[in-house]
Amino acid sequence: MLFELGSVRDLMFEGSPQRARHYLERVHAIEHVLIAQIPVLETMSPQDFLEFRSHLAPASGFQSVQFREIEFISGMKDPRYVERLSSSAEERARLERRLAEPTLWDAFCGFLDGLGLPMPLTDEEARRDSLVRLARDRARFSEAFYMSEALLTHDELFALWRYRHVLMVERQIGSKTGTGGSTGATYLRSTLDKRFYPELWDLRSYL
Ligand code: HEM
Repeated sequence: MLFELGSVRDLMFEGSPQRARHYLERVHAIEHVLIAQIPVLETMSPQDFLEFRSHLAPASGFQSVQFREIEFISGMKDPRYVERLSSSAEERARLERRLAEPTLWDAFCGFLDGLGLPMPLTDEEARRDSLVRLARDRARFSEAFYMSEALLTHDELFALWRYRHVLMVERQIGSKTGTGGSTGATYLRSTLDKRFYPELWDLRSYL
């Protein structure tokens, strides 16, 4: 996913939205697999899981550097996770690099700018106007419009994984704390409203 997301971003910067969308659709396909595999784990009863759960600690999904890299490159950068995560200098450097590099959203905004749809960083209203123009004139901006829909699908599928994962967690361990030291399902539920592209969701209310 990280490899494809990097290509999608670079292709948007190069002004090749069709190829960018092609690779983003591969990311969607991977996300569908990630969601579909969860019921396999749910065939395990909570009692069976408890038999080996203590051996997992302190290992946890919390340690996944790549999960944070996906969030960062997609457009949702939160430097607090670098402090919390980086167990090794190499991993810390990887996350620092992801924090510094442009995201898919930066590339998409650059692409829109180039089409005469300004996306200035500091002017939320101007950005909304551009996104509304994009959506209302699909004939003229068709590549960019379908790219924005593909970005939204990536966002939606990632959110679906979060929902699916927390339900599995509740099914397996209820309200027990996580092996990574968080409050478990309570923490995970607090992440459910995270979105990579809030402005694309918000746009719907203005059409
Ligand atoms: C019985 C199965 C599972 C249980 C009970 C479980 C439980 C948890 C819990 C409690 C957390 C919160 C952090 C902590 O304190 O540990 C967490 C986070 C996480 N888990 Fe799982 N998990 C399971 C399976 C999986 C699987 C199969 C994956 C990936 C394929 C995964 C990926 C993650 C990731 C990436 C996080 C970090 C999420 C975030 O911070 O938003 N987990 N998990």
